[in-house]
Amino acid sequence: MALEAATRDVPRVPWTRRHLLGLEELTRDELLAILDTAERFADAERRRKKRANLAGKVVVNLFFEPSTRTRTSFGLAARRLGADVLDFSSAGSSTSKGETFIDTAKNIEAMAVDLMVVRHASSGAPYLLAQHIQCGIINAGDGAHEHPTQGLLDMFTIRQKKGRLEGLTVALVGDILHSRVARSNIHGLLKLGAKVIVCGPPTLVPPAITELGVEMSYSLEQILPRCDVINMLRIQFERQRSGLFPSVAEYARLFAMDGARLRKAKPDLLLLAPGPINRGVEITPEVADGPHSAILQQVANGLAVRMAVLHLLCGQPGEA
Ligand code: NCD
Repeated sequence: MALEAATRDVPRVPWTRRHLLGLEELTRDELLAILDTAERFADAERRRKKRANLAGKVVVNLFFEPSTRTRTSFGLAARRLGADVLDFSSAGSSTSKGETFIDTAKNIEAMAVDLMVVRHASSGAPYLLAQHIQCGIINAGDGAHEHPTQGLLDMFTIRQKKGRLEGLTVALVGDILHSRVARSNIHGLLKLGAKVIVCGPPTLVPPAITELGVEMSYSLEQILPRCDVINMLRIQFERQRSGLFPSVAEYARLFAMDGARLRKAKPDLLLLAPGPINRGVEITPEVADGPHSAILQQVANGLAVRMAVLHLLCGQPGEA
């Protein structure tokens, strides 16, 4: 299907939001509008056509934490849609001279910026910015809170590979406590009718998470045969205090996806990982590179999903 159709299509609901801060606040229809728009961009993406949806717009990547996939993907998505892109990293900036987060953002906004893509180690940072500046904000990961475009690209990949989300059993395995990817997946997947199981060592799975409507398990072995999809989350060493599990080797023995575990799973199990992966910790190399894994497909889909989000937030509706 051509992008021309996509960009002229009216989403199922008229898109009214200026920001994408989290999947928690999106409705089912809004989630579907993004996924459906991304589907058409994915087709067009293969044709690598450069578009003018965001011509004249300025998109800034404002990253206060490291990133490989998210940052490059937003940058490329914005350029494909014809925007001018600025890249800001906190390293080497005036934040090291004492400038506050809000002042930094306001100064960048003063250069007539239309959209800011923000990543920050503090949960809630993009929400704070949305209260202080006028341009649109996209949350590219805030602390352990949400990472909405990662949640969306995970859901997009599941729907692409399985043909649906409704009725599927999706497990999120690993460091649930510190994972913003887990929280965005939970909010999105539940709204689109999937069953969600969170699984990991007791110290990394907060029991209150069941209040969101998910099942909880401390045993990958037990849930494995029921899963249609497993999303292997990275141990967030940078967010952990020490002592949450005895050793990396023990974690891997109990929770890593390896060939032996794969043989106990459904034959068509789909394996996802948001990346970066620690090979041998969350997933062994032969499984990460094997036929069940859609890790690189997720990265490819991330581009389409981010094009869709940029387009819905600030693209010109009739522009193809
Ligand atoms: C994730 C993140 O930064 O939250 N990475 C990503 O954006 N693909 C997951 C992670 O760092 O583990």
